[in-house]
Amino acid sequence: MADIYTEKVKDHFFNPRNVGEIKDADGVGTVGNPTCGDVMTVYIKVKNDKIKDIKFKTYGCAAAIASSSIGTEIVKGKTLDEAMKLSRDDIANELGGLPAIKMHCSNLFSDAIRKAIKDYRKRIK
Ligand code: FES
Repeated sequence: MADIYTEKVKDHFFNPRNVGEIKDADGVGTVGNPTCGDVMTVYIKVKNDKIKDIKFKTYGCAAAIASSSIGTEIVKGKTLDEAMKLSRDDIANELGGLPAIKMHCSNLFSDAIRKAIKDYRKRIK
């Protein structure tokens, strides 16, 4: 793998956490990046306004997979409002940095989690 990635990115790429699908998810968010063609889906279970469980499926590059993996770890247990505020910079910082051309990859996860939360909020209305 190209050495543009930190050890933490590599770790989360080779051993991604929370991969998969939640069949009875309370909220689902899918986003894609038309430029690179990468697609990501995030599934959440919600309890007491907090993210109780989260899984993701990503068809994408190493940075997208590492961002999804660490993103799920960051938001698990957080309130929905806290998770809504997660930015691509939060994710990149947690990974020890991402190359500038790969910042959109971490954006994909923050967009997907927001979409999943919006989906949940729509369902409970
Ligand atoms: Fe598009 Fe990484 S290159 S998500």
